[in-house]
Amino acid sequence: MPPTSSTKPSPVKLYDFHPPVEDFRSAVLRGLSKPEKTISPQFLYDKRGSELFDAICQLPEYYLTRTEMAILRANAEDIAAALDHRALVELGSGSSQKIRILLNAAPQVQTYVAVDISRQHLQEACAALMADVEGLEAIAVCADYTQPLPIATIPELRDRPTIGFFPGSSIGNLEPAEVIAFLKTVAVLGDLIVGVDLKKSASLLEPAYDDAQGISAAFALNVLVRINRELGADFDLTQFEYRACYNEVAGRIEMAIASLSDQTVRLGDAEIPFKAGETLRTEHSYKYTIDEFQLLAMEAGFKPVQVWTDAEQLFSLHHLKQI
Ligand code: AVI
Repeated sequence: MPPTSSTKPSPVKLYDFHPPVEDFRSAVLRGLSKPEKTISPQFLYDKRGSELFDAICQLPEYYLTRTEMAILRANAEDIAAALDHRALVELGSGSSQKIRILLNAAPQVQTYVAVDISRQHLQEACAALMADVEGLEAIAVCADYTQPLPIATIPELRDRPTIGFFPGSSIGNLEPAEVIAFLKTVAVLGDLIVGVDLKKSASLLEPAYDDAQGISAAFALNVLVRINRELGADFDLTQFEYRACYNEVAGRIEMAIASLSDQTVRLGDAEIPFKAGETLRTEHSYKYTIDEFQLLAMEAGFKPVQVWTDAEQLFSLHHLKQI
């Protein structure tokens, strides 16, 4: 699919590979027809969802963001050296906050490509970055980063050495088998710097995903608001609740929306029955030990060359090289 390059007078160049709305409809219907109802986590990130996710990142219970930022700050020079002079491609860039730490430590990096599914959020983040970081060219690529990245169609990256940055432990939202496939796909970027949340007790993990203020719940339930608005469904939000629990055997947080009653939801011509207590899975968030993750990376054809972590071993940042 050829990209749509924006023609609006904006300092940020946008390459738009956003899947058409019909993909959203068919993906939602497919997920809701499965024996265990699911929705792909990528659909959580409309504008409101992205704002709510940013709010999650600020929560006292959500240790991931501040710990990863602290690791980046403490090792910025070391990581900047690993970036070399390559164009930096961030997958799932969100509000592009973490990259600021690296860009400040790596003035030699002149080109930053932000890849995210949330178009408006992406453009705003890139514009803010270009205003703040002198001499930086920030390019916005609106795309589902789990799909093969059409790097060759982005002129600014053609014949340029690149390095991929995939922070936030978003890799944890993939199933382990998908991690290997994903790493093989993004090998097109060359080396990778990947953030991975580490295994820890349920008493620390569960509040991070079900906070006292209810922001995590609002984030998950927002997908029903989005389906109502964009696909004309009639989810009654008073009849659903958010749940998150740590499955220690699988090593993952399981996030879901549970139906509070027997009910039928209409989505266009389709009728979707829910039993009381039945769940719609929104996300899995896998946690790894350093060794477990390095093993997956090696299976995908990468050589782990360095890992940075915090004193409490809450979070890890891996430098993976192509073998
Ligand atoms: C994006 N990703 C790394 C988050 C996580 O920690 O798994 C998504 C999230 N969902 C609810 N809270 C955070």
